Amino acid sequence: MKIFETHAHLDFPQFDKDREQLIKKCFNSGIEYMINIGVDEKTCNNSIKLAEKYDQIYAAVGFHPHDATDFKAEFIRRKAQHSKVVAIGEIGLDYYRNLSPKDVQQKVFEEQIKIALESDLPIVVHDRDAHEDCYEILSRNNAEKVVFHCFSGDELFAQKVLEKGWLISFTGTITFKNSSLENTIRLVPNDKFFVETDSPYLSPHPQRGKRNSPLNLQYIIEKISEIKGTTPKKIAENSYLNALNFFNLSK
Ligand code: NI
Repeated sequence: MKIFETHAHLDFPQFDKDREQLIKKCFNSGIEYMINIGVDEKTCNNSIKLAEKYDQIYAAVGFHPHDATDFKAEFIRRKAQHSKVVAIGEIGLDYYRNLSPKDVQQKVFEEQIKIALESDLPIVVHDRDAHEDCYEILSRNNAEKVVFHCFSGDELFAQKVLEKGWLISFTGTITFKNSSLENTIRLVPNDKFFVETDSPYLSPHPQRGKRNSPLNLQYIIEKISEIKGTTPKKIAENSYLNALNFFNLSK
């Protein structure tokens, strides 16, 4: 079974003790590619370093809405040119925590969408309690290659996202007992989704509460296959091919 980890933060300090061993274990367990995602200047640099070290790791660069007040446009524009950078992200809006003022989040999100379009790179969106504004800003800028990472909307919003031709990405939250994503999983077409762990966060059930790692992708894949009434192998394969295509890695 070929697996694609589309969203991890393996440069974070939670992995300082065993990063190399864990990455090796991932590649020995069927994971073929991983995208390491930046959230600020330091983590973008570290994501690129990881991508330079491992052939099968690629990087995404962007300023997370939490860090929007520190945004450096020239830095992102320059890093977007790096040969192992395959996306701009994670960028977006977070009205749940509002760690940066809303107007700054919106402005920085829009500026980074423009950089993605200039650089011809796909966009990895972080949307927390900000569905309509994310949708509106992306639409207004005619963004086409977009994924809603850790999708948290309802079915109606999922429909709106899919009508745009955008993708939906699922994390371990779909395995939680209080998950309301079952209908969204059922309705998402086979060519419009992929899986991610968002490690070190969001460990799926039954690993909840522990540090997450890409090795837990199997729980997410299994959950989707149960809901869609198909095999884990088929779900892993769809997700893999969709990610390959989204991040422009199908050579
Ligand atoms: Ni993340």
